[in-house]
Amino acid sequence: MTALRFQWARMDDLRARDFHAAKLLRDTVFVVEQNCVYQDTDAYDLQCWHLLAWAGDDLAAYLRVTDPGSKYPEPSLGRVLTAPAFRGQGLGQELLTEALQRCDHTWPGQANRISAQQYLLKFYQSFGFAPIGEMYLEDDIPHIEMLRPSVLQK
Ligand SMILES: CC(C)(COP(=O)(O)OP(=O)(O)OC[C@H]1O[C@@H](n2cnc3c(N)ncnc32)[C@H](O)[C@@H]1OP(=O)(O)O)[C@@H](O)C(=O)NCCC(=O)NCCS
Repeated sequence: MTALRFQWARMDDLRARDFHAAKLLRDTVFVVEQNCVYQDTDAYDLQCWHLLAWAGDDLAAYLRVTDPGSKYPEPSLGRVLTAPAFRGQGLGQELLTEALQRCDHTWPGQANRISAQQYLLKFYQSFGFAPIGEMYLEDDIPHIEMLRPSVLQK
């Protein structure tokens, strides 16, 4: 089992080389691996939380969380990935668990809304997300919006 060290930071608190590592992985996964020409770097990067999961010196997994009132009224996880070499070891699960704990701590009482790739419906359901609405295409990839009610509201 790979031991992870988590780094939760705003852009201004990330070293350039840490953001570079995250961007490199985002490009590797979402542009190259998924064969999708899309605008990955965007304005949300400047005002969201970045969650980096390090395995020694390697960035093994990553996601970002946009603030409430930014992309959606609720905080929103996005750009969720595990580096190809680290898949299938439970790191995605650890990453989501850490991120949702951070969200619940940062924005107590807030739900979380995501635009999920449809093939991962069950993965996100296992964290309490429920699909809302119909499937839609985003950058030609089937997506579905999902909402996880706040743990405090349950
Ligand atoms: C999705 C992703 C983050 C999972 O990472 P991972 O570290 O391999 O995941 P884990 O080992 O923690 O697996 C957890 C669960 O994820 C689900 N899962 C993982 N890969 C999957 C796949 N290719 N298809 C469907 N479900 C998958 C399974 O439910 C798995 O549970 P199981 O092992 O009990 O079957 C990784 O496959 C990835 O980076 N994919 C490409 C990027 C992407 O599509 N991101 C999502 C954008 S919405």
